[in-house]
Amino acid sequence: MFFKAGVAVGFIAAASAVPQAATTTSSPTASSTGYPLPYSYPQQPSVNSAAISSVASHAGIPASEIPGATNAVPPIVSSQVTGVTSHGPYSGPPPTTTGAISNSPAGTAIPMLPPNPTALVYNPNGTLNNQQPIPYQPAGGLGTNGTEPVYRVQSDFDYQSILLGLYQEWIELDLFHNILATFSEEEFTAAGLTPSDRFLIEFMADQESGHATLLSNLLGGPSGATPQCTYNYPFTTVHEAFDFTQKLTRFGESGVWGFQAHLDSRECAQLLDQSIATEARQQMIFRQFAGLFPMPVWFETGIPQSWAWTLLAPYISECPANSKRLVWQNFPALHVLNQPNSARRNATQTGFNETTGFGPAAPSSDPPANETCVGYNVTGFDCSASVSQNRSVPLSYPGREVFLSWENPGKAVGPNNSYITATSAGPPEFVLWVSQLNITYSPLTNITARNGMNYGQTIQPDVSTYEGDPAINGTMFIALTDTNTSYTAFNLSNVNPHVAAGPFLYQAG
Ligand SMILES: *[C@@H]1O[C@H](CO)[C@@H](O)[C@H](O)[C@H]1NC(C)=O
Ligand SMILES: *[C@@H]1O[C@H](CO)[C@@H](O)[C@H](O)[C@H]1NC(C)=O
Ligand SMILES: *[C@@H]1O[C@H](CO)[C@@H](O)[C@H](O)[C@H]1NC(C)=O
Ligand SMILES: *[C@@H]1O[C@H](CO)[C@@H](O)[C@H](O)[C@H]1NC(C)=O
Ligand SMILES: *[C@@H]1O[C@H](CO)[C@@H](O)[C@H](O)[C@H]1NC(C)=O
Ligand SMILES: *[C@@H]1O[C@H](CO)[C@@H](O)[C@H](O)[C@H]1NC(C)=O
Ligand SMILES: *[C@@H]1O[C@H](CO)[C@@H](O)[C@H](O)[C@H]1NC(C)=O
Ligand SMILES: *[C@@H]1O[C@H](CO)[C@@H](O)[C@H](O)[C@H]1NC(C)=O
Ligand SMILES: *[C@@H]1O[C@H](CO)[C@@H](O)[C@H](O)[C@H]1NC(C)=O
Ligand SMILES: *[C@@H]1O[C@H](CO)[C@@H](O)[C@H](O)[C@H]1NC(C)=O
Ligand SMILES: *[C@@H]1O[C@H](CO)[C@@H](O)[C@H](O)[C@H]1NC(C)=O
Ligand SMILES: *[C@@H]1O[C@H](CO)[C@@H](O)[C@H](O)[C@H]1NC(C)=O
Repeated sequence: MFFKAGVAVGFIAAASAVPQAATTTSSPTASSTGYPLPYSYPQQPSVNSAAISSVASHAGIPASEIPGATNAVPPIVSSQVTGVTSHGPYSGPPPTTTGAISNSPAGTAIPMLPPNPTALVYNPNGTLNNQQPIPYQPAGGLGTNGTEPVYRVQSDFDYQSILLGLYQEWIELDLFHNILATFSEEEFTAAGLTPSDRFLIEFMADQESGHATLLSNLLGGPSGATPQCTYNYPFTTVHEAFDFTQKLTRFGESGVWGFQAHLDSRECAQLLDQSIATEARQQMIFRQFAGLFPMPVWFETGIPQSWAWTLLAPYISECPANSKRLVWQNFPALHVLNQPNSARRNATQTGFNETTGFGPAAPSSDPPANETCVGYNVTGFDCSASVSQNRSVPLSYPGREVFLSWENPGKAVGPNNSYITATSAGPPEFVLWVSQLNITYSPLTNITARNGMNYGQTIQPDVSTYEGDPAINGTMFIALTDTNTSYTAFNLSNVNPHVAAGPFLYQAG
């Protein structure tokens, strides 16, 4: 399986090889033979002797006696944009390639089918239904028959899903660093952050370079991965930065929950879970830094890839020439005109347009000093960074009137303005609310249009997952549809042909 002696090319990427960045030398002769393809980054693990001396000196014993201490360590994939990273909107020439990557789609919508009959057979009655393969192991499971793990994408679905994930990891790496670079120590302190909190942000940025390395390898190294881009952010203050970041990490996490169970490669799904478990912690920490209740829901939801891409693309301004194009849809933008303002002592007093910047994750704007909850030291009304802030006045409530605006399709968005918003839905009639385990709809009413923009309104529903857990809470998703068909996170992508605008991150709590 190795096409050149001495060059460890992982077609069977060894179980440990890809997660730790396999050593691969990609050679033109190899790729021209076509198969197996070079895989993972051609980066040599190296030995950091200063780090080894430091470990040995701390332990007080020779490095040679510390297991693993002298082993070479794989490097992280370096970001394309190094040194001083510029930020801001795209200002280059019009793109030469536009739109999502596509070939010849076989149809226009996935049919809604009855359950697979084999899925209704297993009888969970407390006994073993089938013969065990070995003692202490029950029959069944995927990838349990002893085949060596292969850490590479296995289909266009896998590739495009993990490529989307890599776009997300790169922006998080840049964003976390950018927040630290943008604000002064005084500004962080005023928002309730200690020096240890700031170090946590730095550490979370480091985690992102590991995640970007892992995903780059799963995508096949240089031939399949995509480099870091240039970004455009909508915040100007610390609280706005954290509000934006808790929204961005929410769609990063939920975007993966939406596809990981569908990946052909269970091995990739395993590694992805192990990175998204970390991202989920980051999302909660940014909620805490924004003074939000850390987790007001019992379950975290999943969204389709096209939703995650629609939410992410407006914040990517420019990508290098060698970036890979995505297949996913960019829907027309949706906006909540009275988005609950998480920086208010009393969010019920939120008016219109209390967001700053642009896009579906536009943060709540800072209210006047006598109405802000940042640094307001009154229990129940404070939103300074904290492990938990229990708000006396919830950000939203069932029955709340929600005012919406949305764009028509055909707008250029994303890297180099090279993706075009599109919809195949009819006129929107419903607002789709996606949160926790399920979805619900509310009627879209009072629909008007002026100056190329559409307006409407709805009422925030009152639904629960189980008794005691109101479903609509936290940082969640809404979209406009022409149907009110039922979906769950597992088949929500079937709604895409019916999405007229959105998604948008609604700050329910
Ligand atoms: C449990 O279900 C299996 C498979 O249908 C069946 O063979 C077995 O008899 C059942 N056991 C009990 C105790 O019901
Ligand atoms: C092991 O399981 C995989 C699917 O998970 C299957 O493709 C493969 O044929 C199986 N191998 C053997 C030896 O049964
Ligand atoms: C995006 O624009 C920049 C600046 O014009 C250009 O260097 C880069 O190649 C473009 N990226 C793509 C993918 O075309
Ligand atoms: C919050 O604002 C609403 C609307 O102005 C008001 O009715 C309510 O009394 C306020 N709550 C508190 C605790 O100030
Ligand atoms: C809010 O913003 C929209 C779109 O920019 C604008 O049409 C509307 O007049 C604004 N509303 C208020 C109350 O400022
Ligand atoms: C805050 O101050 C502004 C202007 O001074 C005033 O209009 C507003 O009513 C005040 N808000 C509260 C909650 O007192
Ligand atoms: C908040 O108020 C409490 C009680 O008044 C006081 O003990 C505490 O020091 C204050 N904290 C800050 C950060 O000002
Ligand atoms: C927390 O907030 C809720 C309202 O959202 C309130 O019912 C509860 O009493 C508060 N608990 C504490 C300990 O402040
Ligand atoms: C969200 O959860 C918090 C914490 O339990 C609660 O105080 C708040 O009322 C909930 N909000 C909604 C809209 O249910
Ligand atoms: C989701 O909601 C629909 C409609 O209320 C319901 O029929 C279905 O059982 C729910 N599914 C889950 C997994 O909760
Ligand atoms: C929405 O439309 C209904 C019916 O035309 C009307 O009664 C209601 O006042 C409208 N609501 C708003 C906030 O404009
Ligand atoms: C879907 O909408 C129709 C028309 O508004 C309504 O009659 C029906 O009850 C709705 N179904 C669901 C599942 O909400």
